[in-house]
Parts: sequence; structure tokens; C-alpha cells
Amino acid sequence: MANFDLTGKTILVTGATSGIGRAVCAAVVEAGGRVVATGRDRSRLAALSTDLGAERCQALRADLTDPEERDALVTTVSGLDGIVHGAGALQLAPAGFLSEKKLRSLEAINYEAPVLLTTALVKAGKLKTEASVVLMGSVAGLVGAKGHVLYAGSKGALMAAGRALALELASRRIRVNSLAPGMVRAGMAEEAQDALGDDAMAAHEKEYPLGFGRPEDVAAAARFLLSPAARWITGTTLVCDGGFTAR
Ligand SMILES: NC(=O)c1ccc[n+]([C@@H]2O[C@H](COP(=O)([O-])OP(=O)(O)OC[C@H]3O[C@@H](n4cnc5c(N)ncnc54)[C@H](OP(=O)(O)O)[C@@H]3O)[C@@H](O)[C@H]2O)c1
Repeated sequence: MANFDLTGKTILVTGATSGIGRAVCAAVVEAGGRVVATGRDRSRLAALSTDLGAERCQALRADLTDPEERDALVTTVSGLDGIVHGAGALQLAPAGFLSEKKLRSLEAINYEAPVLLTTALVKAGKLKTEASVVLMGSVAGLVGAKGHVLYAGSKGALMAAGRALALELASRRIRVNSLAPGMVRAGMAEEAQDALGDDAMAAHEKEYPLGFGRPEDVAAAARFLLSPAARWITGTTLVCDGGFTAR
């Protein structure tokens, strides 16, 4: 019988102060686990810890693009059974409006932070045998979309790195997978709505056979990848997009 239970497991969740990351924290706690929740916004971290209970949710503030803050996080945590990399950012702009600065700032949080944090945790021995690493890709890293050059590149690179990491860490029985969500009604979707406008978003939703998703839909997929039920799954990308890429 498949086991989706996370009792006794400690999961590091980045991007825990908002949207998908916050929903992942709630899903882990609901499944019996505890979270080490991280983000930059102190008040939202404190609210999360209050909501989930301090004994089930340890909140640690860190800017993951800052090497010193990342190192401090690695030093503080221990005995991790998994990581869900929810932190990320969006940059939508036509190719003619891109800049090196925008590219570097997006790569720093979407690609470098999860790769460098994961490898530093491995090097420091903070991930237990049979741990599960869940990277947050995107359908933007799988299919092209106008205005997504920087975002698509960062997410495609992350999902590719996840496959290589899965091969390297299999000898320690650590699994590495990516999620590739489509449009989810969370912080980033609101940014897209602001950039594209209501009419364009309504038209875009028609391309989703099941409509846009909720943060809880992605959190459920993360919970599965973290759980013993996924013990034989590594090096893959689980698309959760309401059928958007099925065509
Ligand atoms: N929403 C979607 O439609 C969608 C679709 C596909 C993929 N995704 C991916 O799913 C993830 C979450 O998306 P979301 O919509 O839930 O986003 P969101 O609500 O905007 O949340 C982003 C999270 O990332 C954290 N973060 C950003 N920069 C950071 C930094 N430098 N250091 C530490 N934390 C940082 C934020 O923390 P603070 O606010 O505390 O700074 C926040 O908790 C992202 O990786 C996104 O690319 C989202």
C-alpha cells in the first residue's frame, strides 16, 4: 500500500512566506511532518509559524541570493528528510527589453539559489539517506511563451540540473525531482495578471483544460514526491498544469 505519510520527517521549505511554498508547509504539517520554513519577510514568517504551530514550523529568515545568509541557513538546519524549493521570481519582458542585470537577478534566485543551497546541504551532510529534493520548475521551462525568455531559461536550467543531481545523489538514495506547474493562482500569477491585463489572462486560462490551478494543487504533488510513495521516482519532472501542455 502506498505510503503518503510524512510523520517524523523534517522538510526545509523555501519561499514559505507566500503562495506555493506556504501551501507546501501546510501540506507537510497536515501529513504529519514538520517544516523549517524560510523566506525574507519576517512578519509573514512569524504568521506562518503561528498558524502551523511553532513546534511544527521553525521559521528562519534568509535571502537565498546572499551567499552568507545561505551558508548560515545551511549551518543552522540539520537532519533534513527533504527540501522543497518554493522561492522564485518572475521577469516578464519582450526580448528587446531584456538586460544583463535582469538576467543575473532572475538566475540568482531561480537557478543558482536552489542548486547552491542543495549542494551545500549535501556537502555539509544535512540531508538524510532517502531524503527527497523537490525543485520548482515551470511549464515555461518546457514550452515557449512570448515574454518568458529569462524566466524560461532559469526554469529550464533548474530542471536540467535536477536530472544530473539525481544521478549523482542516487548512491546516497537521495531523490531529486522537479515540479513543473502551469499558472497557479498565487503571487506570481498576480504579477503576470498585472503585466498582461485581465483580458489576456482570461484568454490564457481558456488554454487550460482544467483552468488555472491553486497553490494546494502543487503542494499535493510536492507532498507525493516527498513521501515514501515516491521512493522509486528520481530524475524526473512532474508536470502539474491542468492539461495546458497536453496538446
Ligand atoms: N504561481 C505560478 O503560476 C507558478 C507557476 C509555475 C511555477 N511557479 C514557481 O513556483 C514558485 C512559487 O511561486 P509563487 O507564485 O508561490 O510565488 P510568490 O507567491 O511570489 O512567492 C515567492 C516566494 O519566493 C521567496 N523569495 C523570492 N526571492 C527570494 C530571495 N531572494 N530569498 C529568499 N526567498 C525569496 C518569497 O519570499 P519573501 O516574499 O519572504 O521575500 C516568496 O516566499 C516559484 O519558484 C515560481 O517560479 C509558480
